[in-house]
Amino acid sequence: MPLSNRWTLTRYLIEERRRFPTAGGDLNALILDVSLACKAIARIVAFGSLGDSLGAVAGPQGGGLNVQGEVQKPLDVLSNEIFIRMNEWNGHLAGLASEEMDEPRQIPGAYPRGKYLLVFDPLDGSSNIDVNVSVGSIFSILRAPQDVIDSGRDVTEADFLQPGATQVAAGYALYGPVTMLVLTVGNGVAGFTLNPNLGEFVLSHPNIQVPPDTTEFAINSSNARFWEPPVKRYVDECLAGRTGPRGRDFNMRWIASMVAEAHRILMRGGVFMYPRDTKDPAKPGRLRLLYEANPVGMVMEQAGGRASTGRQPVLGLKPTALHQRIGLVFGSKNEVERIERYHHDPATRDSGTPLFAERSLFRD
Ligand code: AHG
Ligand code: MN
Ligand code: MN
Repeated sequence: MPLSNRWTLTRYLIEERRRFPTAGGDLNALILDVSLACKAIARIVAFGSLGDSLGAVAGPQGGGLNVQGEVQKPLDVLSNEIFIRMNEWNGHLAGLASEEMDEPRQIPGAYPRGKYLLVFDPLDGSSNIDVNVSVGSIFSILRAPQDVIDSGRDVTEADFLQPGATQVAAGYALYGPVTMLVLTVGNGVAGFTLNPNLGEFVLSHPNIQVPPDTTEFAINSSNARFWEPPVKRYVDECLAGRTGPRGRDFNMRWIASMVAEAHRILMRGGVFMYPRDTKDPAKPGRLRLLYEANPVGMVMEQAGGRASTGRQPVLGLKPTALHQRIGLVFGSKNEVERIERYHHDPATRDSGTPLFAERSLFRD
């Protein structure tokens, strides 16, 4: 298709907004600023080791740690800064929160405050930066509580603890062989490819649909000994292939960038699992609810897929903390539902995991 016939991200947003004649355009302007942050990060990623943003942040132990005790790379910190700088000024936000910040970030006094909250993982899969494997950014847009909008007061952690089902928009940028932005504003999922000549995101994948069935799964099997019985059963049945109960062979992938796995699944189906396990009782899952599971969950559900904790839909959970971790299973609907059935099946449910079975703290 000739370039001129393709919609830009701006046009897509304007066409979507026409469905809501009373909408003021704040959300569109915010999404465009988010997309600009993603373009800036894409450029920095593209320079790789020619830039000076690789390695670990210098710190007392040679590497800075974020609030979750994970090593922060300069690109984690820089990407976080870019998201803040490109969005704090525009008057559309009441506050921001991210993986790399302990507490919510307030909008500086010099700028007006708006009605949305921006929550983000500025760089997902950052262990892959040094080895030139795809990384990405994930974002979630929530409406600020009404009293925040009315009073203009500072935001608190509690203001962000909204179920994923209330997200207004969500998406991710993927910095791979090409840079893409995948977005939902609650009316399906659209994929945009960055045209490097124009510096514009151009609609390349309208109305993305996740195939309901798949023969591809993704899980870090080095954690197998910590898995709960329903997960072990599911993976064992996949591995048994055509000689097992599934009656067909399965293929496996693990990129270790959730955003890249989510993209593969949107493009050709599949199921991704980072389930709750017994590895560290203090961590009921590896991935974070507010800025990883919820936005990817909304994208999956809007594309006809499913996102679950294994026990219930992710988007229905009421978050209890900004950096809350959660078991996460998403992708092709029929496979995710099968995994949920295994979690509810008395034959596999909770047996062998007395810690989780007895301590309500870890129930979701
Ligand atoms: P982040 O880089 O934002 O900390 O997230 C990394 C996450 C996710 O992208 C990926 O699926 C998972 O961590 C990889 O975990 P393993 O190291 O267990 O493979
Ligand atoms: Mn991440
Ligand atoms: Mn990250």
